[in-house]
Parts: sequence; structure tokens; C-alpha cells
Amino acid sequence: MYVIKKPGWAMPERSATPEHLVVNRRHAMGLAAGGVALAALPKPAAASDFLAELYPAPRNERFVLDRPLTDESVATSYNNFYEFGSHKQIARAAQRLQLEPWEVVIDGLVEREIRLDAADLIRRFDLEERLYRLRCVEAWAMAVPWTGFPLKDLVAFAKPLGGAKYLRMETFLDPSMAPGQRQFWYPWPYVEGLTMAEATNELSFIATGMYGRPIPRQNGAPLRLAVPWKYGFKSIKSIRRFTFTAERPLSFWEELQGSEYGFWANVNPEVPHPRWSQAEERMIGTDEMIPTQLFNGYGEFVAHLYEGMADERLFM
Ligand code: MTE
Repeated sequence: MYVIKKPGWAMPERSATPEHLVVNRRHAMGLAAGGVALAALPKPAAASDFLAELYPAPRNERFVLDRPLTDESVATSYNNFYEFGSHKQIARAAQRLQLEPWEVVIDGLVEREIRLDAADLIRRFDLEERLYRLRCVEAWAMAVPWTGFPLKDLVAFAKPLGGAKYLRMETFLDPSMAPGQRQFWYPWPYVEGLTMAEATNELSFIATGMYGRPIPRQNGAPLRLAVPWKYGFKSIKSIRRFTFTAERPLSFWEELQGSEYGFWANVNPEVPHPRWSQAEERMIGTDEMIPTQLFNGYGEFVAHLYEGMADERLFM
């Protein structure tokens, strides 16, 4: 993610090399991600062994891909997880994430507040594997086999009250574990939100594993959101709190730079980011350029959610 607002003494954006140039330079050096390139990436950190006995889970064949899966070593070593650094090679640093104990809080407009350990929460649901695309707002993409459970199952377990209109999700907050959280100009903790209709849509998924194993820390252990029709920043990692609320949550990137990263963030190739085109995406690992699709190709599942909402900034 590229942000403009930073304190005056932070490195100005013009001094930072834009990601696409770094990637091109790697290309020139024969080090691009994929093939030989992997040698240049940090060695993928070991998958976590959190609830390892639950994997692999049966695949739900309803969700099909139009492209090959991204190589596991690429998907687990090219990450956005600002809590561990504002660059892509955070996999090693993220191994400091302590998964036990991991209390999950479900609160706000619910029949009663629930606090339980992530392991106990995950064991309540039937896990399944789904092949999903992920399209980052930075115009790179991957295709991943997530394991987890539908978010609507968690919503049913939470028993929200009638007044709940949104689900707000929050990542852990622990600057001693996550050095990025000492960068005070970011509005920690990371927050994301969905409407109740989005949260209970069949595509909304809580991933607890990937590639048939527990999800690695750098990809958002022990539980992260996967909403494949939205830009990747909506897919919040390492969730600690689910809050049902009547007010639309202010998400991390929206608070930081609302003119570029909005609440809805639905993928649309025809609506450029203010500073780059969204017409195409680069598959990490192969560098193949693929035309981007409206709702990232998931319109049949979600287009109806946005009917009659033309006044909203649905696509940024
Ligand atoms: N969640 C948290 N807590 N912190 C983050 O920095 N980055 C987001 C999203 N979830 C992020 C996060 C962005 S910008 C993207 S593209 C995806 O995670 C990347 O997921 P991946 O590293 O598994 O590919």
C-alpha cells in the first residue's frame, strides 16, 4: 500500500522506490519472483502447527479458479502485514506472532459477549478448502487454496441483535511483538468492516489454513478474513475482535487515506486508483499480466449486494 500522509521527518514518497520499479529491476537482474527468482526471496518460514490435526480439509468444489494456483513459497513470502514492516518481506519478522494464548472477543450488538480461545472457536466449525483469487489494490494478484469456515457461521454463533448493521473486525495490538505498531503515524490496530449482508454472503470466509496446512503467521494466523471480490486490504489478518455495530466502521486505510482507500473497495478494472490503473493485475510468482474483472470475477455471488447504491464510492 502506498500512502501519502506521513510525518514530515519520515522518508518522503519520492525517495522511496515504487514497488513496480523494484520488481522491474529484479527482472532485469534475472531475480524476478518465480523460477530462479525464488532463490532471491527469503526462505518461506515454516507453516504454523496451530491445530495441525484439522488439515487438510475437504475441498468445496463450488469455487473454481480461472488460473493456476500461486506457488505456496511465493504466497507465503510476499506479504502485506504492516504490523511487521511496510514492505513485502515480513515473513521472518512475523514469526514473533504469539498464537497461544489467542483470545477472540465477539461483542457489541450481540445477545451476550463471547470470549474464547481461537482454537476453541475454530473447532466449533466445519472446515473446508476453497480456491480463491486475491487481488491487491496495488495491482498484483494470487490464487490461493484457503482452508477455513464461512463467516456467516461465525455470525450465527455470535447471535447479533436486530440493530446490528455492520461487522467490525480488529487485529491484535502489541507493539512489543509487532515492530510496525511502534510507527505511531499509523492508526493501529488494523480495523476492517463489512455490512451484515456482506458478512453473511456465502463468499465471505474466515481462513485458518492455506495449502492444506495451518495458515502461516505472515498470512494472518490464527484467523484472517478472505473476501475475494474486494481489494486485498479488506482481508484483515490475525483477528482478535469481532464487533457488531450500528455504525459503519472506519477502517485502517480509510482513516489513513480515505481519498484512495474506501470502505467498499470492490474490485473494478474501470475505476483507476488515483495514482495507477486497475485494468490489469500481475500474478505474483509468474509475473503474468491478466485483465482484471469486475468484482474480481465474483459478480454472480455479490453484484446484487450493491444494487441501487450508485451514490456510494463502491470501487475504491
Ligand atoms: N491485515 C493486517 N492486520 N495488516 C495488514 O497490513 N494488509 C492487507 C491484508 N490484511 C494487512 C492485512 C493487504 S494490503 C493485503 S493485499 C493482504 O492482507 C495481503 O495478504 P497476504 O499477505 O496473505 O497476501
